[in-house]
Amino acid sequence: MAAAEKEEISVEDEDVDKKIFKDCRKIAFYRRQKQWLSKKSTYRTSLDSVTTSSTSAKFKITNEETEVPLLAEVYGIEGNIFRLKINEKAPLKPRYEVADVITNKLNTIRLTSCSEDIGSLLLANGTGDLKCRILADPFQIDLVSEEEVVMSINSRGQLYFEHLQIPLKQRLTKENEADAAVGTSQENQDDLGLWEEKFGKFVDIKANGPTSIGLDFSLHGFEHLYGIPQHAESHQLKNTGNESAYRLYNLDVYGYKLHDKLGLYGSVPYLMAHKRGRTLGIFWLNASETLVEINTEEAVEPMPPQMGPVAAEQKVKIRTDVHWMSESGIIDVFLLTGPTPTDVFKQYSYLTGTQAIPPLFSLGYHQCRWNYEDEQDVASVDAGFDEHDIPYDVMWLDIEHTRGKRYFTWDKKRFPNPKRMQELLRSKKRKLVVISDPHIKIDPDYSVYAEAKEQGFFVRNHEGRDFEGICWPGLSSYLDFTNPKVREWYSSLFAFSAYQGSTDILYIWNDMNEPSVFRGPELTMHKNAIHHGNWEHRELHNIYGLYQQMATAEGLIQRSNGKERPFVLTRSFFAGSQKYGAVWTGDNRAEWSYLKITIPMLLTLSITGISFCGADVGGFIGNPRAELLVRWYQAGAYQPFFRGHATQNTKRREPWLFGKKYTQLIREAIRERYALLPYLYSLFYHTHVASKPIMRPLWVEFPDELETFSVEDEYMLGSALLVHPVTEPKATVVDVLLPGSTEVWYDSKTFVVWEGAHTMKIPVALDTIPVFQRGGSVVPVKTTIRKSTGYMTDSPYGLRVALSAEGSASGELYLDDGHSFQYLHQKQFLHRKFSFRSGILINSCADERGHYPSKCVVEQILILGLKKQPSSVTTHSSDSSDQPVKFMYCAKTSALKLERLSLNISADWEVHIT
Ligand code: GLC
Repeated sequence: MAAAEKEEISVEDEDVDKKIFKDCRKIAFYRRQKQWLSKKSTYRTSLDSVTTSSTSAKFKITNEETEVPLLAEVYGIEGNIFRLKINEKAPLKPRYEVADVITNKLNTIRLTSCSEDIGSLLLANGTGDLKCRILADPFQIDLVSEEEVVMSINSRGQLYFEHLQIPLKQRLTKENEADAAVGTSQENQDDLGLWEEKFGKFVDIKANGPTSIGLDFSLHGFEHLYGIPQHAESHQLKNTGNESAYRLYNLDVYGYKLHDKLGLYGSVPYLMAHKRGRTLGIFWLNASETLVEINTEEAVEPMPPQMGPVAAEQKVKIRTDVHWMSESGIIDVFLLTGPTPTDVFKQYSYLTGTQAIPPLFSLGYHQCRWNYEDEQDVASVDAGFDEHDIPYDVMWLDIEHTRGKRYFTWDKKRFPNPKRMQELLRSKKRKLVVISDPHIKIDPDYSVYAEAKEQGFFVRNHEGRDFEGICWPGLSSYLDFTNPKVREWYSSLFAFSAYQGSTDILYIWNDMNEPSVFRGPELTMHKNAIHHGNWEHRELHNIYGLYQQMATAEGLIQRSNGKERPFVLTRSFFAGSQKYGAVWTGDNRAEWSYLKITIPMLLTLSITGISFCGADVGGFIGNPRAELLVRWYQAGAYQPFFRGHATQNTKRREPWLFGKKYTQLIREAIRERYALLPYLYSLFYHTHVASKPIMRPLWVEFPDELETFSVEDEYMLGSALLVHPVTEPKATVVDVLLPGSTEVWYDSKTFVVWEGAHTMKIPVALDTIPVFQRGGSVVPVKTTIRKSTGYMTDSPYGLRVALSAEGSASGELYLDDGHSFQYLHQKQFLHRKFSFRSGILINSCADERGHYPSKCVVEQILILGLKKQPSSVTTHSSDSSDQPVKFMYCAKTSALKLERLSLNISADWEVHIT
């Protein structure tokens, strides 16, 4: 789509033009794999070739037809992870291996080999019950746990490896003309795109020829799989059949179609499989275009003869086959063996890092629009929030704030004094986020361009000149963020001295970093563009955006001399992006179905490590009616990244523009978000140290309850709150599954208590956000809501205690200064633990290493599920005498309220209820 066309699209029901993007059949490497695999030639290994060292076991695999040897390496990695790498034994030149994603120096575990039957070999990792069985002919690997095969690799014979060949041109000069003519016409005839691939008017000339790889994994007993974002699809992965696939290829898809397997802005080539008793993960570390087929099958398996008569000797077993295919690179796959969902989260974050702890302000509400016109507009929107008593933390400026889309500059007419504007925001303890895209306007007088040009910092085209493509500013070149020197230089552009008009309240939004190239193939960069190290773009397309966010986050850290946490929102992402900030789901539409899909889309991002995620509240394209907008705010208030955003040409939709009633509803939703910030911030800390996502699919919290495995319309926020946003117009009732046969759930507004393991019809009005607190939990909240998070540092806390069926509860609070790295370097933090048992609520220290002076008090305590009215309530602490406390008890709701308390949050104390 040309820039002009893209800008012009404002028709709500404009469909994504299918002609712009490829489906599987238009992808040559897919056609090649399909064609070749149908011929069934096999790979074999010789077990004699297996050598084990302290770090890995290596062996040779050969294809019976091509005879080109491959080298396989199996690593046992600490924490029950296996890694399998397969590369050509002697490639003509090195093949691309993804760098900068695996964070830890992985601790490998020596694998010991013991031969089993003839034709197979067992590798044990020595620590647990896990073993890798290598079968020789045909080549297969089984992952065995407690004598049960949980996963088989290449059991479907889909190992595929196109070895590097001498370029066609050179071959042509060597071979005799006649042979060559036969060869080329054959290649063209089959349209297999070996050296050249056409798509519409685009021709992709492949200097290295065909380089595709593929491998299959059979997951025994599994039928529930999740992951491989980003698609506008259900959380649970669907069967693709054998003629379509989930595509992982980062693309700019304006107003993307729902329930589609086309790749969107980012890719995480990682999925989880779950069944009762075991969760697994497969992380396919490859940054080139990737396709994933998923197929669940029932298979009848013979039972051992001693199990009875022939008829009963067969049992039906479920198996899901996952077939990964990538355009290039090597096979490098991590097998995460769980066994619990929590273990798999830990294993994945051991490899790729955990979610960075964001600055506290970024968990507040963000107000964005393409565009806030000028300084005056910013000031009046900012004032609007105060006038209407709606808290917000961050004002956003889109591309129009710059001088002709030259990032790091200001449009002097609209924003004559950016520092003054930031001072205004600062006076309200608010922040500013501005956009910075990866395309750089070709203009020798623009210093960013001139410098990058001079230093050779742009991606090059296949002829060796700077790549040029069209994006917002017109003709542009694209920074090569894969080059560490470019990243270092880009980071330096955020220094206050370099970035004129910036202050320390300015943070960054990286957009269009798939990268988006308006007249490029599929609106992105040509695959034969050249990056640092002479790598073709095809090798690393999916990781380009990650590198920009990495450089931006580093720049923000450096401008503060390493003191302050960055905030960077990115549209494109890859495995590991969680280390650099937040992700949103791009250009959605102001329609109910798009509100609904935010839940599965965000759940999928969350389980693949990216916890700090959100969707444009209100829908980016089109004009939401008041009811949809309200429902979207209510949903967004309970999603990790909470930003209202709208495209050009849409009607203004600041929260107070729809009449008093709706303003009030939006105000309430945003205020509830601010009340919950202590809980949310504590969850971020927890995710940072313990890897469990913030937004959790129900199956993660209830891994043994089958009915939770396919739930798409509700989720857990941490382990304490179940949220079921209303996503239908004119809803009067929602069906809420409250899981867990031993659980009790409390309606967070009415305090009505429900037993678990039931689907309840919950009546809803327009002011209802169906949120249920799980019995057994304590949720810390703020009791006074103010203009922005900055004003709430000393606001008092409340504790919402919801008792389990046994009458107990526990929860945590994490707090620190909310913006620096002192929590890490100086251990300046507080981590408190609340527990309630036998009528006593105890506040104690959860982590002795942390210290943080906080003047905050706990002012309110609400206890839900207290069966009988207490006769007295007293507080006990070491630094004051025991105090009786006034209380209110409601027999109807079994709720006890303690108010006007003054219990220091950082001190040990007890509340006794008798
Ligand atoms: C892209 C972004 C959108 C932004 C626009 C202009 O479409 O996804 O959020 O407003 O570009 O920068």
